[in-house]
Amino acid sequence: MRVPLSSSISIYLFGFIESPSPSTRSLAGGLYPRQIRSPGICSCLEQTEVSLKHDPYWCWQKNTNEPQWMDCCKEPDFCNKDIVFGYAQAQEEEKWPEQMSIITALCVMIVLLAVAGALIFYGRRKRNSGARQILPEDSVCGASYPILNGHTTIQDFIEMTTSGSGSAGLPLLVQRSIARQIQLVEVIGKGRFGEVWRGRWRGENVAVKIFSSREECSWFREAEIYQTIMLRHENILGFIAADNKDNGTWTQLWLVTDYHENGSLFDFLTARYVDPDTMLEMAYSIATGLAHLHMDIVGTRGKPAIAHRDLKSKNILVKSNLTCCIGDLGLAVRHIVATDTVDIPSTHRVGTKRYMAPEVLDETINLYQFDSFKRADVYALGLVLWEIARRCNVDGIYDEYQLPFYDVVQPDPTIEEMRRVVCEDQQRPSIPSRWVACSTLNAISKVMKECWYQHPAARLSALRIKKTLANLR
Ligand SMILES: Nc1ncnc2c1ncn2[C@@H]1O[C@H](COP(=O)(O)OP(=O)(O)OP(=O)(O)O)[C@@H](O)[C@H]1O
Ligand SMILES: [Mg+2]
Repeated sequence: MRVPLSSSISIYLFGFIESPSPSTRSLAGGLYPRQIRSPGICSCLEQTEVSLKHDPYWCWQKNTNEPQWMDCCKEPDFCNKDIVFGYAQAQEEEKWPEQMSIITALCVMIVLLAVAGALIFYGRRKRNSGARQILPEDSVCGASYPILNGHTTIQDFIEMTTSGSGSAGLPLLVQRSIARQIQLVEVIGKGRFGEVWRGRWRGENVAVKIFSSREECSWFREAEIYQTIMLRHENILGFIAADNKDNGTWTQLWLVTDYHENGSLFDFLTARYVDPDTMLEMAYSIATGLAHLHMDIVGTRGKPAIAHRDLKSKNILVKSNLTCCIGDLGLAVRHIVATDTVDIPSTHRVGTKRYMAPEVLDETINLYQFDSFKRADVYALGLVLWEIARRCNVDGIYDEYQLPFYDVVQPDPTIEEMRRVVCEDQQRPSIPSRWVACSTLNAISKVMKECWYQHPAARLSALRIKKTLANLR
């Protein structure tokens, strides 16, 4: 066949071939020996089929169903007369590079993903171990802060933080160091935000509230409130440390406080009754704690007023001398004196439904006035006093422990249920007739009634309650 193409180019085509056998793949530096099945068509191309007619080395492969191979030569005529069929790199090479490039791309992607994953993992580990290295157990901090030097007790520690500049809590690095020396012993409770553990720090018990990672805001807020300047008080749960420990996979959020083996007031009253004097001391200590919380102390070393917003028997702890302290400050708000507002945007309803004041339940509370929150706290205090009074043993007679409104709402009441009982029906816990016969119980029942007036402004202040109870002791 003679197909003159251009002055110097002839192209011949021929059909062929089979896939390379695996055993021959590595031969010829990437050229695969092909077994030619049939030479098929073998001809020089028409000139029109040459894609780049002016370039003697660029040829165009005809797109037919037959596998083809083409080559270029510079012989003008009979270009294909001396063709020797042998090793070829035709049809399979057409598919092979395509498959190869997909496989290579996939491999590269997998390797890149693996490398990226490994980098992230080791990066986090390194960062984490770096954080730990800030505070090797007895390093810089131990030298700078005597509290970490081995013989300090929690009591010393508390004194250090209540005197001088430490009144807003220990330096953060010291808190972290203490938290990391704690061994957790047992779970002692579970609340909305996580678990509470008994832990040991240098042979002494501490309580560790462990927040889940998604409760980081609650953890932060509670730690922040506890570290409000001048907050420390014998009737406010003693704050020791806050720590966020990143273990590489998740963040553990710890809040370390004094441990009280009697547990919460709810735990205590469920298990034990009290005599009138103990009842009074308990009531007085809670009122004192609340009065301290509510108090604005002006001056450079002053304290802002704080409203608790979740006062209830489960958030009050009973100390070993049977006086109480108020804990769980995570929902508290602080008073900004200059604007007479609260320090964080407040939502209508926070806290525990059972203890919500009528104005919280029906959302008539004035959220822009700080006093509103104090009055709602006083309402809840009235319910707590009622819980204690029921357990007051006079001449061998006392009532079984019950939560407020136990007789009119379900165990986990809805807002609507509480609103109907407290706002519409204006019900309050009942005062047993036996209380009238006991002067202490009678006096305390008057106080509680003045705490839970429907009209918030009519309620007593925490300071007034404290003084009234002081006079009864
Ligand atoms: N400092 C502490 N000392 C001893 N026991 C504690 C201490 N703090 C908490 N507890 C125990 O752990 C329990 C759980 O406390 P937590 O505040 O997490 O939940 P709660 O008060 O029961 O419910 P809520 O989530 O509504 O506040 C408490 O009821 C109490 O028994
Ligand atoms: Mg609580």
